[in-house]
Amino acid sequence: MVQLFKGFSSKRKPETLQEIERDKVPKHIAVIMDGNGRWARRRGLPRIAGHHAGMKTVKKITMAADELGVEILTLYAFSTENWKRPKDEVDYLMKLPQEFLSLELKELVEKNVRVRMTGWKEGLPDHTLSAVEEAERATSGNTGLILNFALNYGSRKEMIEGMQLMYKDIAAGRLDPDSITENVYDSYLKTSGLPDPDLMIRTSGELRISNFMLWQLAYTELWFTSLYWPEFSKEDFHQAIREYQQRIRRYGGL
Ligand code: IPE
Ligand code: IPE
Ligand code: MG
Repeated sequence: MVQLFKGFSSKRKPETLQEIERDKVPKHIAVIMDGNGRWARRRGLPRIAGHHAGMKTVKKITMAADELGVEILTLYAFSTENWKRPKDEVDYLMKLPQEFLSLELKELVEKNVRVRMTGWKEGLPDHTLSAVEEAERATSGNTGLILNFALNYGSRKEMIEGMQLMYKDIAAGRLDPDSITENVYDSYLKTSGLPDPDLMIRTSGELRISNFMLWQLAYTELWFTSLYWPEFSKEDFHQAIREYQQRIRRYGGL
């Protein structure tokens, strides 16, 4: 296959771990884990088999991020728009956090990983919420990689809610409108306390953001691959980081 353009990799490269410059590893990597359904369809399997296979990639990439000393790995697991999908599929997706954490929580605790969630807890089924909250509790004292699941997350809803919260504080006299800065606005968002992603990876070949961190991605380096999430490997992850390290981030300057 051909390299379509810089930043869109359709070809696997045997990039090795050794080629990564350890002092330039992105602090915050965000991933739109896409293509589970198509991966399954290509194999004649039901879509949920793709979601199940995708869970293994979550484990692999979490471990790869941990090995490299990435500080935050945000994984887009379920969007506010994904509720539109058929009930069976939504039900299955809502069981995955439980399944993933029942298999992996012990190791995450041992590896000093801290689990966190960005999104609306309201609206999640009880069994999903309790699995997430148990993982947050069990890892709350950990100081290593932050494994941040964007679950029931949508950026436009986040920004509207952030504005509503600001207006309420203004009306109550707690916030002076003239004092609103980018940092103040950040503090009203679901991602409050997290730095903006340095690198955003999207699998599946779609070249869009799909309502993911629209504000936070302002100067993030974007990297797309046509690989489906279940087939995305540690080497592919390393390749994305290598390419990130070759980019020049200008932030509008020279
Ligand atoms: C990503 O895979 C997982 C979620 C969005 C929950 P998809 O389910 O979107 O798979 P495709 O894009 O239909 O192949
Ligand atoms: C984005 O994927 C959401 C997640 C990966 C959770 P979608 O599959 O929902 O995005 P669209 O519909 O292709 O834009
Ligand atoms: Mg999709």
